[in-house]
Amino acid sequence: MASVRIVYDDQAGVFESRAGLPEEVAARVAAAVRRHGELGADDLLVEVGAGTGVIGQWLARPPGRYLGFDSSRAMLEVFRPRLRPGAVATLLYADADRSWPVRTGSASVIFGSRVLHLLHPEHAVREIRRVAHPRGAVLLCGRVEHSPDSPRARARAKLRDLLAAHGLQPGPTGGRPQRLLALAQAKRAAPLPSQVAAAWPETVTVTQVINWWRGKTSIGGVNPAPAVAEKVLVALTAWAVDTYGDPAPAVTTETRYLLEGVRLPPAAPATGAERMDPRPAEE
Ligand SMILES: C[S@@+](CC[C@H](N)C(=O)[O-])C[C@H]1O[C@@H](n2cnc3c(N)ncnc32)[C@H](O)[C@@H]1O
Repeated sequence: MASVRIVYDDQAGVFESRAGLPEEVAARVAAAVRRHGELGADDLLVEVGAGTGVIGQWLARPPGRYLGFDSSRAMLEVFRPRLRPGAVATLLYADADRSWPVRTGSASVIFGSRVLHLLHPEHAVREIRRVAHPRGAVLLCGRVEHSPDSPRARARAKLRDLLAAHGLQPGPTGGRPQRLLALAQAKRAAPLPSQVAAAWPETVTVTQVINWWRGKTSIGGVNPAPAVAEKVLVALTAWAVDTYGDPAPAVTTETRYLLEGVRLPPAAPATGAERMDPRPAEE
């Protein structure tokens, strides 16, 4: 579990140049998520940490209803205009580490892309089980995997070493929500085979990668003081010149979008006391 809260508000404007997915990749990922859910017109798909709607804009289309929530208003402001007129979609500002703004027993698919590893896993599993439809539901976790020899992966590894040298223990970034998946399985959820939903070539220079981190509150999974961030980025730039030369060449490597998850079983018949859910229906 991350003890550092990663700040996304100051990333909304550049999120897509830094971490966006090509349109056709996002559409393919959304199609794979939908296939798992076999959504009918009345079924609800919940997206946790929907962000700027890179994938959500494709999920918020018929058939089915879509509810996306995120703890960054700035990210949601980028998403909102992307919703198609007539989409049965709701976007809400809410923190997934608190009560989810989703009606109990309403969700057929619960999806989180590049976010579930950041959440408190015990709480997330409780909420996932609460909102899951009594017929059963699918939990899907998506993440992007860069080739280890890509400028992104190499610069990130170096960044984390430099942060650690300043006593900053980087938290997980872009990772697999291992504990959450294990907890879900301990509660009778059945693992789904992991799937490469899309693979594509990506071309970047190490200079681009380093520039994306400039001026951000959160880098490499921590929130360093501005003076420390500056020192780390100067050292990282020197490393980049040594490693890649100046100007740094564009490097093309394969990037993959992975989907994994679990199928939550249908609910056991409730006892009288359990049937009385005091939680208000917020969705
Ligand atoms: C790396 S971005 C991914 C955005 C989107 N899911 C995608 O893949 O393009 C992580 C998103 O999760 C959101 N987030 C992080 N912690 C959250 C929390 N506790 N509750 C709700 N959203 C959260 C951030 O605000 C951000 O929009």
